[in-house]
Amino acid sequence: MKFRLIILLVFASFCARAQEIIPRPNEYRQSGGFFRLPETVSISSSDTCFSGLIPVFATSVKKYTSLDFQVKQKNGAIRLVRNPKILEKEAYRLKIEPRNITVEAGYPAGCFYALQSLIQLLHSFGPGKTIACAVISDKPRYEWRGFMLDESRHFFGMAEVEKILDMMALQKLNKFHWHLTDSPGWRIEIKQYPLLTGPGAKGNFSDPEAEARYYTQKQISTIVQYAADRFIEVIPEIDMPGHATAAAKAYPEFSGGGSKKFPDFTFHPGKDGTYGFLTNILKEVASLFPSGYIHIGGDEVSYGNQQWTGFPEIQLLMKQKELKDLTDVEHYFLKRMADSIQKSGKTLIGWDEIVSAGLTNHPRIMWWRHDQPQMLDLALKNGYEVILCPRIPLYFDFVQLNSHKSGRKWSGKYAPVESVYNFPSDQFTGGISIATPLVKGIQANLWTETVHTNERLEFMTFPRLSALAEAAWTNKEVKDYESFRGRMKNMEDIYRKSDVRYFDFMHPEEATEISGPEMPKN
Ligand code: ACM
Repeated sequence: MKFRLIILLVFASFCARAQEIIPRPNEYRQSGGFFRLPETVSISSSDTCFSGLIPVFATSVKKYTSLDFQVKQKNGAIRLVRNPKILEKEAYRLKIEPRNITVEAGYPAGCFYALQSLIQLLHSFGPGKTIACAVISDKPRYEWRGFMLDESRHFFGMAEVEKILDMMALQKLNKFHWHLTDSPGWRIEIKQYPLLTGPGAKGNFSDPEAEARYYTQKQISTIVQYAADRFIEVIPEIDMPGHATAAAKAYPEFSGGGSKKFPDFTFHPGKDGTYGFLTNILKEVASLFPSGYIHIGGDEVSYGNQQWTGFPEIQLLMKQKELKDLTDVEHYFLKRMADSIQKSGKTLIGWDEIVSAGLTNHPRIMWWRHDQPQMLDLALKNGYEVILCPRIPLYFDFVQLNSHKSGRKWSGKYAPVESVYNFPSDQFTGGISIATPLVKGIQANLWTETVHTNERLEFMTFPRLSALAEAAWTNKEVKDYESFRGRMKNMEDIYRKSDVRYFDFMHPEEATEISGPEMPKN
């Protein structure tokens, strides 16, 4: 009896189970028996619309496993089959049987996600190891599963962005929000305004004299394609009318002043030229990014609009348009830019400050001010579609352990892995119900004032990105934090294979903090 138990335990340790992947699949049925990995893993596709996924899968097999890999015309050990009855774009079925594994999906995205599940199962298994037979039927909880990277405060470069995209894809995250402009530096080439990436790209949050760093349009296109190959949409953010100091260094004629603490913080809403300048920029941006969205920020304008009342052009504008105060001026600006975005065929996204601007072009809102749940409430009452990304717990520049020194806290609150995992819940939405189809998804944001190196970027991002992925994909009823912790052992192994630095959240007190610069006090 004891002997049989030992055999069983030894066997179990060589056997992967399909429910072990991250994010945890929503339906898993074990079906008896085991798929034994052959010497060479072969793959075939019975449908040409899935064949295009094989090269990226082959790259992942090479990177994450020790298996030989072969593409066959038919009868591969892994078979990709189009099933028109699977109607949702991102849904898939994975049948693991003793002789082969069948991937079924109605669309390439679903097939891609099935292959990401498979990669996680294959990664630590050599020939002769087994996967428990099962049927997985899976689809996401949310359509928007996002991560935002701020490259204005500090710049990280193509290789780092591709590394993040790889880890996002592996865990079925599908939106990369790229914060490319802000006060410390302008990071995207605009051909019509070359100074933006001259004086505008010089400096960063730690060092105003740092050499200019930015992405050329060619590099942007490379990243957009790299992401698209992994079913990730890249959403650019060009922040306005605030956070515009870098643009003012290049084109001061469009600056609308600022305050002592935030000099040249806003664009000038009283000059027609400003609207032409920004519309031309957005036209180039719109043609570079195939995404249907452009994010135009709209946050924290009050940090830098103190000089607005002193400008004769703004006084005239207020009189002509009957704008009673600076908030009206801000909303006037947003409406004009919303019109420009609509003309370019895109949907506007903005931070939750834009909720009260009276925009009629169906903007999408990113609710970030966790201390202002009324903005979430108002957005939903306006009928706007919303992405939830409240500071607590989805700002990854907040510390993940109370004793960590670098990074933010808010009245003692921070963003541990477990809180990210447990999101969304009433606790984090100020009691506002999010059980409405207007809530499209969730997103984590990494602001980089205190993130100055690639190692620290990764330390602040991982493993919280994995917790985010499961929070965004897996239904509430299937989520289980203890199980997630157990499954993270596999994922940490993948992190190490990918040379990804991470916070060892299972041994937090022993883990060394990779620290960064101090956040200046307000
Ligand atoms: C923000 O954190 N200012 C959107």
